[in-house]
Amino acid sequence: MQTHSRSAAEVLAINSFFNALLREWHPWQWRGQNKITLPLLENDGVLQLELEQKGIAGRHRFKPELQHISPDGSEKSIPFLESARLLCKKLAQDKSIHQAAISDFLARVENSVTNTQQTLAERSQNLEALYHQDTTFQESEQGLLAGHSVHPVPKSRTGMNSSDTHLYAPEFGQTFALHWFAIDNRMLSDESAEALSFAQLTRQLAEDDPALGVQFLEGIPEGFTLLPAHPWQARQWLKHESIAQLILDGHMQDFGAHGSHWAATSSMRAVHAYHARHMLKFSLSVKLTNSLRHLLPKEVERGKEIFRALQTQQGQSFSQRFPNFQIIHEPAHACIMDADGQPIAETMVVFRDNPFPKQDSAHIELLATLTQDNPNGDCRLINRLHLLAMSEARPFSAVATDWFKAFLTKVIEPLLAAQYDYGLLFGAHQQNLLIDLTTGYPTRAWFRDCQGTGFSPVAQALFAEVLPKNPVHNEHHISGDIGNKLFTYYLLINTTFGVTGALASSGEIAEKDLLHDLKTFLKKLRGNNPRDTSCLDYMLESDTLQAKGNFFCCLTAINENTLENPLGIYHPMGNPLLMDSSEHIKNKNGQSS
Ligand SMILES: Nc1ncnc2c1ncn2[C@@H]1O[C@H](COP(=O)(O)OP(=O)(O)O)[C@@H](O)[C@H]1O
Ligand SMILES: [Mg+2]
Repeated sequence: MQTHSRSAAEVLAINSFFNALLREWHPWQWRGQNKITLPLLENDGVLQLELEQKGIAGRHRFKPELQHISPDGSEKSIPFLESARLLCKKLAQDKSIHQAAISDFLARVENSVTNTQQTLAERSQNLEALYHQDTTFQESEQGLLAGHSVHPVPKSRTGMNSSDTHLYAPEFGQTFALHWFAIDNRMLSDESAEALSFAQLTRQLAEDDPALGVQFLEGIPEGFTLLPAHPWQARQWLKHESIAQLILDGHMQDFGAHGSHWAATSSMRAVHAYHARHMLKFSLSVKLTNSLRHLLPKEVERGKEIFRALQTQQGQSFSQRFPNFQIIHEPAHACIMDADGQPIAETMVVFRDNPFPKQDSAHIELLATLTQDNPNGDCRLINRLHLLAMSEARPFSAVATDWFKAFLTKVIEPLLAAQYDYGLLFGAHQQNLLIDLTTGYPTRAWFRDCQGTGFSPVAQALFAEVLPKNPVHNEHHISGDIGNKLFTYYLLINTTFGVTGALASSGEIAEKDLLHDLKTFLKKLRGNNPRDTSCLDYMLESDTLQAKGNFFCCLTAINENTLENPLGIYHPMGNPLLMDSSEHIKNKNGQSS
C-alpha cells in the first residue's frame, strides 16, 4: 500500500534520527522488550518509541507512531518534528547548547524531511522499481532516497534552493550539461599522477563527448587549460570576486554550458556520464550532512598517493590477490588560485575513473541504496533475496546466509587485507561501495572516494618510495591506534553492521547468527598471520568500538572535514561481536550467543 509521502518521509526520518541519537545519548531506557522511553524536560514528560524490528548491532526500525507521555501520565501520539523540538529542549539543557544552534539544527531536520517528502512524491510511480527490479549503476546512485541511515539530517541541503535541488540532486533523476571555462595556466594549480596531464585529461574529456561542438575547443588560447565545472557551482564561481577579476583581466574565459548530459551520483557533487572515461567530483558550496562540500587540497592529494601506491610491486600484489575488487582511482585534480596564489576551495575538480560505461553498468548497485529503508515495505536487499530464494527454491535464511558470506569474501576481505597487509585505510562506508549483483550474489566490488583514505605506519613504510618526502599535507598519515578506530567505524559499524541490520530487518534471519558468521570470518583472517593484527584484534576483542557521532556533530554544527582531531566527534558503542544479543550486555565468556 502506498503511504502518503509526508508520513513516508517521516518513517525514514524517524529511523535515521533516532538511531543516531540512541547511539550517542544514553539516558533512554527500555520499556518492556519493544519500547524505548527518552526523557524530556521535567515539565514536558517523556517520549516513547516503539520498535518494529530490534537491531543488535546499532540499528533498529521504529514504528511510525511516536508517543508523548505527559507528566500526568496521559499518552498521545506526537508528530516527528514536534518530538524533535521537545528533545532538543532537553539536549540544549543537558549539553549547554546555545539556542541559535538548536534552531539551526531543527531547521535542518525539517528541511531534510521536506526534501525526502518531495522526492518520494516525485518518484511515487517509480518506487516499486527502485525497491524490487533490476537496476543499473546510475539508477542505483540516483536511488538513495533516504540518505545516510544513521544521521539526524540525512537529506538536508543548506545553501541550495528547491528548484536547483530539483535539477541537481541525484534522486530527482535529472541530467545536465557541464559548464566550460578556459583558464590561464598560471592561475591553475593542477596535478596528475597519470601519464596524461590535467590539461590533456580535460581536452580528452571534451573530445570524447559526442555532443560537444568543437568551436570553442579550437579557440582556446596557447597557455590556457580547458576547465569543466558543475553548472550550479559555476554560478558560485562567477559570483566569486577573484574569479570575476580573472575574467575581467582576460585570464579566464567563460564558454557556458555545453555538451552531453551528466547525472549526479549519490553524493550530488560527483557526476557520471556513460560516454566519459572519467567521472568528475566537484567542490559544491552546499552543506550536506556533516560538512560544507568543498574539496580541500589536503583531501585531493590522497587520490594521487593511492594511485601511485597501487602501481608499486606491493600495490600490484594487492590487486592480483583480489582481481574482483577495485579501487576507483582519482589520479588528477585542479583548482583555481586567487591573486595571492592561494587555492580557491570552491573550484576544486577531481578526475575519478569511470569503470561503468553503459555496457558494463547493469546490476552494479550502491550498497547504501540496497540496504536503505523502504517506507512502504521491505528494503531492496530483502526483496531481491526473496526473488533469489524463489528462483533457487531454497529458504530465505539459507540464501541470506550465503549472500552474507559472499559479501564478506568479495567486499569486506579485500578492504581488511588492504588494512592489515598494506596499511591502506579506505573509508569504506555504505555510500562508497559498489557491488556487482548480476548473479544476485556479490561477485565483484568497487571502492570509491579516496578523500577519506588514511595511511597507517605499515603503508607509510611500505610505500615510502612513492609517498612525498616532506608532505605539506600529511594528516592522513596516522597512527595505528587512530587508524584502527576510524577504519573500523567505516567498515564494520557503518557498512557491515548496516548489512546485518538490513538482512535481519524482515525478521526471517537472526542478526545474532550473522554476527556470529562475521566473528568466525574475522577470526579466520586473524589466524592467517596478517602483517598487522592490531585492527582485527581491536574488532574482535575491544568491549567498545568508536562510532562517529553524527547526531551531536550536527547539533553543535561542527564541520567534519576541517576538524583537527578526527576522533573528536566519536563516542564508544558496545561491541556487538562481544555482546549478548538480547540484553545488550557483554557475555561473560566473550561469545556471541
Ligand atoms: N552510510 C553512509 N555513510 C556515510 N555517508 C553516507 C551514507 N549514506 C549516504 N551518505 C552520504 O554520502 C555523501 C558523501 O559522499 P562524498 O564523499 O561527497 O562523495 P563521493 O562518495 O562521490 O566521493 C554525504 O552526503 C553523505 O551524507
Ligand atoms: Mg562518499
